[in-house]
Amino acid sequence: MYMCLCKGITESDVREAGRAGFVMPSQLKCKFGLKQDGSCGRCAKHIHEFVELAIEGASAFCQTSVNRS
Ligand code: FES
Repeated sequence: MYMCLCKGITESDVREAGRAGFVMPSQLKCKFGLKQDGSCGRCAKHIHEFVELAIEGASAFCQTSVNRS
């Protein structure tokens, strides 16, 4: 599912960002350029959804790493 239509950001993009350590609202806004370059910024109003997905991605990565060791 698309999280940002202007930039074509999907849920999997956000989870991947979480695995890379981007989990804070300001980090996610900066990484994906929300509210920049003339984009509408509508998705930035729901930044908490980005954060939840990013944390989910980071948690899944941690569990996978633990299970492999
Ligand atoms: S929907 Fe994300 S900037 Fe427009």
